[in-house]
Amino acid sequence: MKTLLLSADEIGKAAEIIKRGGLVGMPTETVYGLAADALNGKAVASIFRAKGRPMDNPLIVHISDISQIKPLVKEFPEKARILAEKFWPGPLTMILPRSELIPEEVSAGLDTVAIRFPGNEIARKLISMSSPLAAPSANLSGSPSPTNARHVMDDMDGRIDAVIDGGECAIGLESTVITLAEEPPRILRPGGITAGQLRDAIGEIVIDPAVTHPLGKDAKAASPGMKYKHYSPRAELILLKGSSQAYIDYVNSSDEEGVTALCYEEDMDKLKKPVIAVGPADDLETQAHNLFSALREADKTDARIIYAHCPEKHGIGLAVYNRIIRAAAFRIIEV
Ligand code: TXA
Ligand code: MG
Repeated sequence: MKTLLLSADEIGKAAEIIKRGGLVGMPTETVYGLAADALNGKAVASIFRAKGRPMDNPLIVHISDISQIKPLVKEFPEKARILAEKFWPGPLTMILPRSELIPEEVSAGLDTVAIRFPGNEIARKLISMSSPLAAPSANLSGSPSPTNARHVMDDMDGRIDAVIDGGECAIGLESTVITLAEEPPRILRPGGITAGQLRDAIGEIVIDPAVTHPLGKDAKAASPGMKYKHYSPRAELILLKGSSQAYIDYVNSSDEEGVTALCYEEDMDKLKKPVIAVGPADDLETQAHNLFSALREADKTDARIIYAHCPEKHGIGLAVYNRIIRAAAFRIIEV
């Protein structure tokens, strides 16, 4: 199949593709999504084939107007209403009890559905011109999420009908996923909206242990996506935990072949190995914005081992930590 690269003026063409059951890569403020008509089970099934995604991993349904939510869910509790008012449109996904309208392919056998109202205007326009859209991140399953149209093409050219080029994603990491299908609400995946912001809005919330720790061998994942290998570059990624100087010393004294440093900007000049910077040490937003792109860049070099400085876990740093710890398959060395 030939994959069309569409401009932001060609959303109408993309909407036609969606309506006839096709797949479109679309920009959102978090990462690019791979979209299909959420109410067309056959179209949704083809998302899984294009990505090589396990069928037991449910998808997020994207809406462009709050009125679209009612037919999709069984209940819309008060706390969900507060969060919607405060954070939608934006990088927050809410898990709610699903209605019968949600195809089996979207919810992967669960009795809940994940709903998100994205902030990106192209995404919203595409939804309003077609239908609610089921969309996972538009990467091949297991590789870093795409933050521009070229990343999507690198993974999906020939596998999907079209990609809309909407430039770089503003945030660069996926949305926060919170389940409101239980009390207290629980964060399953940290993202653009922080735990602090959610607590300020609705009070007690818990953070699922799988956000920062590997799932036990027989543990059941609350969010099926958490049990799979994720975001991984081809090289072996290892996190180094310690001071800036200890990080620099460890990397510089390594005699392994193909070492690359995924580092903070201020450490670049002190490293004697190839470097890819993710941003200033104290600027977690910039690190979030650059992380996936940096992992993809590393894949274009002959790096075999990537040493990354273990990120701070506060604010949006928790989301950076959650992604990079999975990309590193939980390998951390204290330095
Ligand atoms: O920012 C985002 O959320 C992006 C953009 C495209 O909107 N989408 C995204 O989708 O990251 P995906 O499929 O790559 O990640 C969705 C995560 C997965 O870990 C999945 O298991 C979880 O959300 N999820 C979806 N529906 C769920 C449900 N009903 N219950 C529990 N977890 C769910
Ligand atoms: Mg994903």
